[in-house]
Amino acid sequence: MRSLRGSVLLSVWTVGTLTVTFFLSLGFPQVFQEIPSYAIEDLTMRILKGGSPIGFKLAYFGTLLLVAGQFYTLRKAMRRVPRIGIGSRSAWLRGHCYLDIAGTILLMIHSGFPLSFRYANPFPYIKPTWGIVGLAGVQGFAAWVVLAVLISGLLGEQLRRNPLRLHLIKPWLKIHIVLTCLLFVFGIIHLFIVLWFKYVSAG
Ligand code: HEM
Ligand code: HEM
Repeated sequence: MRSLRGSVLLSVWTVGTLTVTFFLSLGFPQVFQEIPSYAIEDLTMRILKGGSPIGFKLAYFGTLLLVAGQFYTLRKAMRRVPRIGIGSRSAWLRGHCYLDIAGTILLMIHSGFPLSFRYANPFPYIKPTWGIVGLAGVQGFAAWVVLAVLISGLLGEQLRRNPLRLHLIKPWLKIHIVLTCLLFVFGIIHLFIVLWFKYVSAG
């Protein structure tokens, strides 16, 4: 029988993934926003980041890739499913790594990383007295956390390959999962601000 901890993690995963999917469905019409033709002098990082037509698409597909990569968690939970049919666990883990590396790269460009990263220090952008808009700095935290999860993933892959370091896998996985939870929290607040608050309630 699955442990209580495993069930809690799976429930958190399900709620987080469904919430992100809900927000992505709200942003879906904007994915088709036309990309204007830019003059050569306009070609700066600004056209690739944030809510620009290209920046929005990068964020959308980057997040879709991260969500797709998270399906490894479901595969891992299906311990008794035979390898034939849905693929082995290690193949899904490879998919998790590649999808998340690709998704993170798109999200870092969307964030303006590294040359146009306005939220490198997110703290000045947190202004609780401004209400929900005062949480804009959260997108900076989200960007740092995506980068941290990516680095932690690459580190975990190295630990898994080194028999002398296998004892570090359990504590490492805890950190990797806590970072993922933080990403869900910051990412969902960001999505709420940019999709629900800006585009839905503003009409
Ligand atoms: C974990 C995923 C994400 C991270 C780390 C992230 C990060 C950021 C950052 C750092 C900015 C500020 C860029 C700047 O102007 O300097 C930003 C802006 C923006 N993001 Fe994201 N983003 C993520 C996902 C998304 C998604 C999925 C969408 C929409 C589908 C989105 C839509 C936007 C929009 C519309 C803006 C412009 C906001 C404004 O100008 O007020 N982001 N994002
Ligand atoms: C934003 C990116 C990432 C997120 C949000 C993320 C999230 C997660 C989560 C939630 C788990 C736990 C799965 C479970 O136990 O059910 C996990 C496991 C793991 N991830 Fe990532 N990950 C990311 C990137 C990466 C990358 C890029 C790599 C590899 C280069 C990687 C390698 C691993 C490994 C080795 C495990 C442990 C597999 C196991 O022992 O079952 N992750 N990841």
